[in-house]
Amino acid sequence: EKTAAVVLAAGKGKRMNSDIPKQYMMLREKPVIYYALKAFEDSFIDEIILVTEQGEEAYCREEIVERYHFTKVRKIVPGGAERYFSVANGLEAVSEDCAYIFIHDGARPFVTEEILQTALETVRVHHACVAAMPVKDTIKIADENDFAVSTPRRDRVWMMQTPQVFSADLIKNAYRMLLEKEEELRESGVQITDDAMVVETLLAHPVKLFRASYENIKLTTPEDLLLADGILEKRV
Ligand code: CTP
Ligand code: MG
Repeated sequence: EKTAAVVLAAGKGKRMNSDIPKQYMMLREKPVIYYALKAFEDSFIDEIILVTEQGEEAYCREEIVERYHFTKVRKIVPGGAERYFSVANGLEAVSEDCAYIFIHDGARPFVTEEILQTALETVRVHHACVAAMPVKDTIKIADENDFAVSTPRRDRVWMMQTPQVFSADLIKNAYRMLLEKEEELRESGVQITDDAMVVETLLAHPVKLFRASYENIKLTTPEDLLLADGILEKRV
């Protein structure tokens, strides 16, 4: 069975407050996006679709793919204004004969072979699965004035990570349906922030969570860079 990875690098990284998009910032002499691509390149994955901001395709090809010899990157495609538009474009570029598709944030550098293996075993059984970890802090639901309303039991609250991995037909269908209903959903205030949500909302298909790692962080705000540096230091 062939497997594909859609690696997302079309975001603007507003919360990082940096002048260049966070996926191209340097982390120990390599761009952030290098690390995730390297993990997929060295794994069982057959092909990689890299999604980048429109206009940055040539930069990505020369400065990332060719420079670091990523031979599995089959296509570089432009993303969209929301993450789900970027994913939808990436999915359309995946080869027809891929059975499973791994969707991964380019800003999440520390995905490992072990996580990819667990994902593959899980998706074979459940068709839809997500790397995740139990929350460490207590979570509160608040009202619009920031007053605590309720407290979900902590052992049932998980932080979603990527890869989010699906049978190819299932995820392509879910995203096609999403694009048809996108306006309707947006107007009703639903904010789609991950791929599992697309499957839950559009197909009502169960999504299995599997334990990944607390090191599988996404670089979102400036302090995450300190954490990333510490994780890298431990690994070399
Ligand atoms: N992403 C994308 N296309 C978008 C938005 C996000 O490909 N329109 C990608 C980002 O490049 C990132 C991943 O999705 O690798 C996770 O998104 P997030 O952490 O929210 O990144 P940004 O949207 O870039 O950051 P911010 O929300 O702070 O602006
Ligand atoms: Mg974002």
